[in-house]
Amino acid sequence: MSETKTNNSLGYKIVEHKFDAVVVGAGGAGLRATMGLAMEGLSVACVTKVFPTRSHTVAAQGGMSASLGNMGRDDWRWHMYDTVKGSDWLGDQDAIEYMCREAVPAVIELEHQGVPFSRTKDGKIYQRPFGGMTTEYGKGAPAQRTCAAADRTGHAILHTLYQQSLKHDANFFIEYFAIDLVMEDGECKGVIALDMSDGRLHLFRGHAVILATGGYGRAYFSCTSAHTCTGDGNGMVLRAGLPLQDMEFVQFHPTGIYGAGCLITEGVRGEGGFLTNSEGERFMERYAPSAKDLASRDVVSRAMTIEINEGRGVGLNKDHIHLHLEHLGPEVIEKRLPGIAESAEIFAGVDVTKEPIPVLPTVHYNMGGIPTNYHGEVVNLVGDNPDSVVKGLYAIGEAACVSVHGANRLGSNSLLDIVVFGRAVAHRCAETIKPGTKHKDLQTDAVDKIISEFDKIRNADGKSSTADLRLELQQTMQKHAAVFRTQETLQSGCELVSQIVEKYADLKITDRSLIWNTDLIEALELRNLMAQAKVTIMGAENREESRGAHAREDCPDRDDENWMKHTLAYFDEKHNVSFQYRPVHMNTLTDECEVIPPAKRVY
Ligand code: FUM
Repeated sequence: MSETKTNNSLGYKIVEHKFDAVVVGAGGAGLRATMGLAMEGLSVACVTKVFPTRSHTVAAQGGMSASLGNMGRDDWRWHMYDTVKGSDWLGDQDAIEYMCREAVPAVIELEHQGVPFSRTKDGKIYQRPFGGMTTEYGKGAPAQRTCAAADRTGHAILHTLYQQSLKHDANFFIEYFAIDLVMEDGECKGVIALDMSDGRLHLFRGHAVILATGGYGRAYFSCTSAHTCTGDGNGMVLRAGLPLQDMEFVQFHPTGIYGAGCLITEGVRGEGGFLTNSEGERFMERYAPSAKDLASRDVVSRAMTIEINEGRGVGLNKDHIHLHLEHLGPEVIEKRLPGIAESAEIFAGVDVTKEPIPVLPTVHYNMGGIPTNYHGEVVNLVGDNPDSVVKGLYAIGEAACVSVHGANRLGSNSLLDIVVFGRAVAHRCAETIKPGTKHKDLQTDAVDKIISEFDKIRNADGKSSTADLRLELQQTMQKHAAVFRTQETLQSGCELVSQIVEKYADLKITDRSLIWNTDLIEALELRNLMAQAKVTIMGAENREESRGAHAREDCPDRDDENWMKHTLAYFDEKHNVSFQYRPVHMNTLTDECEVIPPAKRVY
């Protein structure tokens, strides 16, 4: 690694760094990759806009799935079956096989690295039931597969991974905002970032640039995501002329706190909690007679929305649902769910030992993202090859679409995804990059172009405020790309989002400073959010079927003949969106499991 300084033609000083690998983002995926790369002997920079242990993984509550079988019989093939079914047959089965098989060693590694998992009486990792997780290929009892550290599992994992990364001498660049990818001849050569504390621009060169920048929940008004979840890597990928995959699939978590949006873990229902409507009815028994409150999230969120729409919501405006855990007793709550007891008290004023929590389906997760294979390599459609690899570019975690979640992710498969693919990408880089390999000088003005766009935004002197535009975008997405969609709502949503995107040209940045200029940073985030919102809502209008989290009232059935394929959405310089398609991988990696053929999805 080395550091040099140059002057850009617009007068910006650029500090240049050279590493074997550059990871953007320090959530669970970014830190697992950073730690793994450092352990493999590669020089690694982790560039992150927030302090690592403040990354959004810290908010993950319920746990990480792995078929350890500590609390009943289990098998990674059953986990694979549940995940394929949960994905509504849009997930790539080779990648799902890889994730479910590797779950077991990945969680054991975490245990050895120091994650303080909750324990059974005989000292094994405690595992709780989660939605859609079953045994015997859906025919047996619910599986207890979700490894938990009380209801603060993400917090425990994130802290451990950060400590381990420091132990292995990874280099952290903290509170740096990544602006754009440096691309030459279709290859990724590095990334430009702004050090928010002193206003200097940095060029990070890496033989591998690994995007671990999370989801874009903040494109919506009400979400469980942190304010930082603006999908910055996804925005950079679109500006690099590369596609995002399956963006129309946005997960609504059934139990966000009404009004505040904060997450109440599915682990509550895993521990025996249940939902009721205004008639006190446990309505999930009607929608999912077998799994009931532990059906997959898309099913539960739709059921709750129907109950509210049909006048059986609770509260003054009959616009939410009750989640009960009073019957679990203070001991279970204290031991297994202490965090949500605190959140419910702070954000809903509720004592969960005595009263139900008011909840509402809330945007929680993006199944779509940067298309990759199961090594974390970014893929693009080139000619007839739907799996061509973009040299030098990788993506992992919620930013990526491997695709292991397809049209709907199962709860606790996200912490699994970040750890398994963070680990996979480190292995891939170790196989393909020789430590210390020299970087060739850049041949084009790619860096100047990025800085000149950045300079235009910094000096924007129009009339629209970032906050107003963002609010308009969030409200539009909330209303027009909701749990249920129709051609009509989507079409008007597309028009509104397009108008908002055009208004960005009239933005006003109130402060020209480069140091701690939150208006500028939020404008850069908004640029990312808008591009993602546009491909999301246009993708939803384009897909004329219902599958997983994409529920079209006007096309209520899944249409495998026409739509069992991944959407690739491109966003050009004029903000036009176009679509291509990739086939779903209906193959396995080994002969230890079989392809799971499409079937009707009932819980
Ligand atoms: O409900 C939860 O604890 C969330 C878990 C997840 O999204 O995987």
